[in-house]
Order: sequence, then C-alpha cells, then structure tokens
Amino acid sequence: MSQTDTAETRTNRTESQSVSTTTGETVEETQAEWTTYEGGGETKLAVDDLDVHYGSDHALKGVSMDIPEESVTALIGPSGCGKSTFLRCLNRMNDRIRAASVDGTVTLDGENIYQDGVDLVELRKRVGMVFQSPNPFPKSIRENVSYGPRKHGDIETGLLARLTGRADPGREEALVEQSLERAALWEEVRDRLDDNALGLSGGQQQRLCIARCLAVDPDVILMDEPASALDPIATSKIEDLIEDLAEDYTVVVVTHSMQQAARVSDQTAVFLTGGELVEYDDTEKIFENPESQRVEDYISGKFG
Ligand SMILES: Nc1ncnc2c1ncn2[C@@H]1O[C@H](COP(=O)(O)OP(=O)(O)OP(=O)(O)O)[C@@H](O)[C@H]1O
Ligand SMILES: [Mg+2]
Repeated sequence: MSQTDTAETRTNRTESQSVSTTTGETVEETQAEWTTYEGGGETKLAVDDLDVHYGSDHALKGVSMDIPEESVTALIGPSGCGKSTFLRCLNRMNDRIRAASVDGTVTLDGENIYQDGVDLVELRKRVGMVFQSPNPFPKSIRENVSYGPRKHGDIETGLLARLTGRADPGREEALVEQSLERAALWEEVRDRLDDNALGLSGGQQQRLCIARCLAVDPDVILMDEPASALDPIATSKIEDLIEDLAEDYTVVVVTHSMQQAARVSDQTAVFLTGGELVEYDDTEKIFENPESQRVEDYISGKFG
C-alpha cells in the first residue's frame, strides 16, 4: 500500500468512525498493528492479552506489548487510563489490591510470572518499583540502601551474624557505595551515611529510593511518575539517571510529561480512556507521526 493510500484510508476511517466523547477525545477503531512494535533488543517482558478488573470496573482491556531489555519504555495517557494498573501488573503488585483481578499473561525472560508457585519476593527483587512520592524509610541513608540485601540474606549485619562471625561490614559498605554511586547520589551523601534519610531533599530522597531498588540487583525497574513531585533541576537529574540506567536495566516509566517521555524513552506506549493500549512504537514515531488520530490529538494537547 502506498503512502497516499494509507493517508486516504486513515482520513476515511477517521471521518466514518470518529465520534467525539465528553472528554473531547475522538473514538476510533483501534488497529492491532499500531501496537505490534518490536524493539531492537531481546524482549524482557512480554504482556499478552492482559485484562484487569477492579470489581465491575474494567480498567485494562486486552493489552499486549513486548518490552525490550536495556531500554526505556514510557507509558503515557490521560489520568485514569490504567497506566499505574499496567505497571503494577509487571511485578504482581495488583495482587495486594483485593478488588483487582488480572487475566492474561506476563512473561519475564520467557517465564509466566502469573503461573502458580511464583515466588513473589524473588519476582519483586527482579522487578523493582519506584513510586511517585519518594518513600524512604525513617532510617539512616545506609540502612535504607542495605535494607533489601539484608532482607534477602545477601548481607548479614545483625547481632547473630556478628556473634557467629558471618557479618561482613566490608561487603555492606561496598554495596551501599556502589548502589548510591549508580543512583548518582554518592557524592552528595558519602559523609552523612548515618543521617536520617528523611533529612534529604525530595530529589535526593527519590535517588535514594532508586539506590534502594538497585541494591538488590534487579533486572527491571518500574517507575510511576518518579519526578512529578520534584522541581525542574531534581527532575532533570532523575531523567539523566533514567537514561543512564537503561544501559544495564530495563526501565518502564509512567509519566504525565510528554517532554519527559520524548526526552528519556526509546519507545512509548499510549493508553487512552477506557484502558486500551492504542499505540506503541518508537518514541520518535509516536511523537512525530502517530498512526492513531486519538494519539495525535492527545499528544498535541487537544484532550487529556
Ligand atoms: N485500587 C483500586 N481500586 C479500585 N479501582 C481502582 C484502583 N486503582 C485504580 N482503579 C481504577 O482503575 C482505573 C485506572 O486507574 P490507574 O490508577 O491505573 O490510572 P492511571 O492511568 O495511573 O491514572 P493517573 O494518571 O491519574 O495516575 C481508574 O478508573 C481507577 O479508578
Ligand atoms: Mg497512575
């Protein structure tokens, strides 16, 4: 099909199938090929026909998408379209919400994370999460970072470990330094590791939460609007960090900022009202030449 045919088909479709909704958005038939994006790298997470209900509320409808490893995938769309719901499906955080029921499959390195017998602690170690508001524990900076590895038994620092000679303070120090370094926070906190983490600025707290997530050596980092509570300078540090982390990790980030999605991500998934994934492609393609009229309207600020 030539370029002209495609444009014509789209115009016809838009004319015949578009109806304005109360949100100012147009409804159009979604096309499966708009979401069958295949990134360059290996698929880290494969989501297939995912449906989420909260009681009778159908929050996500038949979402399928492959998330490539070692890259940044941005999830965008208006409030209530299911971005956080989708993110929480990727490490089964929705299991904690009693009203939520999840159907479909999500595979991590080819293994279905929804099959019986999956170790949820291990899963959430491999697929870590950073939330919108920084949520450090009211403990020292050091303890915040070493909390996960201690919980998982990767380092032992307690009294019993000290008495039995298993404690290895050198290993803890190295892990704390490494994780803070990787989260671009080490230089700012190296002389105050025993201070309470709540004394850090919001931006530093968020980078500490990222360090805490990195300390357990995850494969995937999920971030739900990680910079929305931060000022522009702290935001730009988080954005630089996200890009940098994608060299070693698979990052999936929800954002309300189009600029942020355009700046940091390799591919972008657009969810629209009704819990549908409407389009998923290279970030450049989504922002410069989307297939869907609704996506174009959303990106150009006509609704949402
Ligand atoms: N814990 C919950 N219990 C019941 N319904 C929920 C729950 N969490 C989300 N929902 C509903 O599911 C739908 C999707 O919500 P979700 O929080 O995933 O959207 P979102 O895209 O992240 O929105 P926002 O941009 O405002 O954060 C909404 O209709 C919401 O009301
Ligand atoms: Mg949300």
